[in-house]
Amino acid sequence: MIETKDLCKNFKDKKRGEVRAVDHVTFRCKPGEVFGLLGPNGAGKTTTLRIISTALKPSSGTAVINGVDVVTDPQGVRRQIGFLSGNTGLYGRLTAKEMVAYFGRLYGMDESKIEKRTNELFTLLDMNTFANVRNEKLSTGMKQKVSIVRSVLHDPPVMVFDEPTSGLDVMSSRTIVDFIKTCRDSGKCVIFSTHIMSEAMRLCDRVAIIHNGRIYREGTVNDLLVQTGMNNLEDAFIKIVEG
Ligand SMILES: Nc1ncnc2c1ncn2[C@@H]1O[C@H](COP(=O)(O)OP(=O)(O)OP(=O)(O)O)[C@@H](O)[C@H]1O
Ligand SMILES: [Mg+2]
Repeated sequence: MIETKDLCKNFKDKKRGEVRAVDHVTFRCKPGEVFGLLGPNGAGKTTTLRIISTALKPSSGTAVINGVDVVTDPQGVRRQIGFLSGNTGLYGRLTAKEMVAYFGRLYGMDESKIEKRTNELFTLLDMNTFANVRNEKLSTGMKQKVSIVRSVLHDPPVMVFDEPTSGLDVMSSRTIVDFIKTCRDSGKCVIFSTHIMSEAMRLCDRVAIIHNGRIYREGTVNDLLVQTGMNNLEDAFIKIVEG
């Protein structure tokens, strides 16, 4: 599971001075649960997810993944997680399948396991039609699917997705949403960020509304509706962020 406590991240920016991107963020996400980070642009979602994935060190506070601390044992954390970041690059000249296999080897998986897992994921995510096409010829949505497979090929217990459906059409988005549900049902701990309220409603067991680096509210979607007196998540979100 993921457990953060008083996580803070300050950036020194020449123009803006010190920016506090993450401000005392505390939450838990259990196995078999999907936790959504909802926030406007610049809220601190990506920064939080990058800290959890050990791409960034926190300025203070702690994040512990399956009992492993991101600061004291980043290698150990990386073995527990699959991280999809917004700007994951793909090698243009490799095909989708070759790209994924390459990362499988980096994860230390043997060839038969790579093959089995690739076939399983390509089918789940409806990718077989472009499995042998070079990445440079893939559309945005196809590339995003390759990045997702790449990030979870090693079957990690914790999955961290930064805006996994960004740039995808409704069908592809739904495929990803269903994939995340499958992961949840097999006991994975999934955290993801989104701006898309309908997706959060369909997918999240719990959500946190993050703004200016701080968590304003946390609970089930229904909790937030009841607390704000609204009948849909978008209105509740705006009320929380603007209020
Ligand atoms: N490397 C950096 N240096 C300086 N400031 C940064 C850096 N990375 C992020 N920030 C700032 O931290 C704040 C939070 O950014 P972050 O990328 O975490 O937001 P976000 O919630 O992911 O937004 P979006 O929805 O637009 O992706 C913003 O004010 C951003 O400008
Ligand atoms: Mg972001």
